[in-house]
Amino acid sequence: MPIASPPGAILVAMSRRSVLVLHGPNLNLLGTREPEVYGRLSLADIDKRLREHGRGRAVRVESRQSNVEGQLIDWLQGAEGEGFLGVVLNPGAFTHYSIALRDAVGGIRVPVVEVHLSNVHAREEFRRHSVIAAVALGQIAGFGVDSYLLGVDALLALATRAPARTTRAPDGRPAGRARRR
Ligand code: DQA
Repeated sequence: MPIASPPGAILVAMSRRSVLVLHGPNLNLLGTREPEVYGRLSLADIDKRLREHGRGRAVRVESRQSNVEGQLIDWLQGAEGEGFLGVVLNPGAFTHYSIALRDAVGGIRVPVVEVHLSNVHAREEFRRHSVIAAVALGQIAGFGVDSYLLGVDALLALATRAPARTTRAPDGRPAGRARRR
């Protein structure tokens, strides 16, 4: 950031180095919930790993968890206004059927990376389909806590090469999303 930049510009740049992590339903039970599938790390452990990972990359990582679909939607809708450069979203079981969550991801301008602890494609048939994936920047599944860390890195890689998220593609859609549909 050049020294001559106005203070406001510095503040915007700083807030743009924040990533929001959203954990969906039942992920508050991590550590004791089906540890053979999801591992033994608690949600607090994962959030600590995320904060440390972000610190090493000069990024603030803020994690939130809800079992409520509408709460996740409100957080997604608010992400741009809160200054997050992107969202790492583990939608839990909502992945497989929540059109409302899909519409929220598809309707916002900040990029969203869908992540899963387990390899959903190697599990029950109903877990192999995601209604979110088509409107997300991409999906990372099967790497345990590393799925989340890779999700943060994917957003940072995008942020360093993409123009501002408010830039519009020729067809009027936000740049960056136009590629994905
Ligand atoms: C999950 C996979 C989903 O199918 C499941 O409903 C979850 C967790 C994962 O992180 O592997 O709650 O999203």
